[in-house]
Amino acid sequence: MDRSSKITINPISRIEGHGKITIHLDENGDVCESRFHVTQFRGYERFCQGRPFEEMPVITQRICGICPVSHQLASVKACDAILGVDIPPTAGLLRELLHMGQFIQSHALHFFHLASPDLLLGWDSDPAQRNIVGVIGEFPDLALKGIQLRKFGQEIIKALGGKKIHPAFAVPGGVMNPLAEDDRDNLLSGFGQAYETIYAALNIVKDWLGENLEEVKRFANFRSLYAGLVDENGCPALYDGKMRMRDHDGNTLAEFDPSRYLEFIAEQVEPWSYLKFPFFKPHGYPDGCYRVGPLGRLNAADAMGTSEAQQEFEHYQQLSKNGLKGSTLLFHYTRLIELLYCLEKAEELLEDHLICGHDIRITADPSNREGIGVIEAPRGTLIHHYQVDKYGVLEKVNLIVATGHNNLAMNYSVNLVAKEYIRGGEIREGLLNRVEGAIRCYDPCLSCSTHALGQMPLKIEIFTCAGELLNEIRRP
Ligand code: MG
Ligand code: NI
Repeated sequence: MDRSSKITINPISRIEGHGKITIHLDENGDVCESRFHVTQFRGYERFCQGRPFEEMPVITQRICGICPVSHQLASVKACDAILGVDIPPTAGLLRELLHMGQFIQSHALHFFHLASPDLLLGWDSDPAQRNIVGVIGEFPDLALKGIQLRKFGQEIIKALGGKKIHPAFAVPGGVMNPLAEDDRDNLLSGFGQAYETIYAALNIVKDWLGENLEEVKRFANFRSLYAGLVDENGCPALYDGKMRMRDHDGNTLAEFDPSRYLEFIAEQVEPWSYLKFPFFKPHGYPDGCYRVGPLGRLNAADAMGTSEAQQEFEHYQQLSKNGLKGSTLLFHYTRLIELLYCLEKAEELLEDHLICGHDIRITADPSNREGIGVIEAPRGTLIHHYQVDKYGVLEKVNLIVATGHNNLAMNYSVNLVAKEYIRGGEIREGLLNRVEGAIRCYDPCLSCSTHALGQMPLKIEIFTCAGELLNEIRRP
């Protein structure tokens, strides 16, 4: 009897976008390979060719309804480089504030809507209840606070861009409009409640980690490299910094200006996925697997740079020492530490005496044929790379999105979970929930990575080594 098989998980709920998982079994019915398939492709990079480069900040934020602000900011930084300008200090502060608004709303959305149902209601609770509606039912006060925290991030974006979804605020050379003083004061009055909420969330995560230490230790825990932008003190630099690559033991392997990314990062293509597999070039493929996003950034950093987040960071470092550093579940904790950091940072920016300044934009003719803009998006490092002809028309566009950087790691994570839940052809209860949960830790944005809009669920298919479909798991 041939027991080698391939398993497919579909749908993965509560992740942004869509995908499919296949699990391939060997002749003993054990897991030999798992694949997180990204099956949609719109050819976005090609589609941009022939457009004037200065249209990119507006075009690229349409890539994704979930991370438009991140794309806009990476894009304007690439455009600044083509113009060869340094933007006015106030414009820099305002862009960074916009960025913090995006982080706050994105991280709050992830924790309260996507992650908290597993933590508060339990992995194996009824999937029909295991969502934000279920959390509202059981923890109405906390759910409401979560919704308000997300709204606070959106209010920051709104105060700057005017619109919540696709604000046309950052432009090549600076930003479109100054921040009004009463808008600043208004925003500053909202921090008390925001801090209260983030501490409540941090306590939930820390309690959960403490109570589930064994599972955290086991769950998709593996050695990898970690990457993120850092400032001169080794603190996370979400809007602008040097890109740092660290190994699992904390050694810095490379620290470089992100415009040199091609020297350090290469992308592997696999025939079964439209999403490429970036890897750290000096270590080759697939050994050069690195993780970005909250876990990547905090494991790449030396410190946080704001006082409250620094305290949490020290607690996190203690926790991660005891064999937990590579646990995928630590994404949830690191995401909240970042959320705290972003609140402190946003407050600091709003208190800067230049924040309401009116010197916000510089205009210039293009002076370079190439521009690279790199930021830390909520989900991880986002690279926009443009090449233009002498008229400023785009000849080549390369985008590497956060979910791409994490692609290899997501596949490893799924494989580790699958190995735990499938042995000798037996599939244990809870596989689907755990596989979904592993992917959800990374908060992948499949809209971004496939350049397709909308949400699509995910399923697991299990295949024999002969390629026959043995089992298919999806939510009823
Ligand atoms: Mg690309
Ligand atoms: Ni996105």
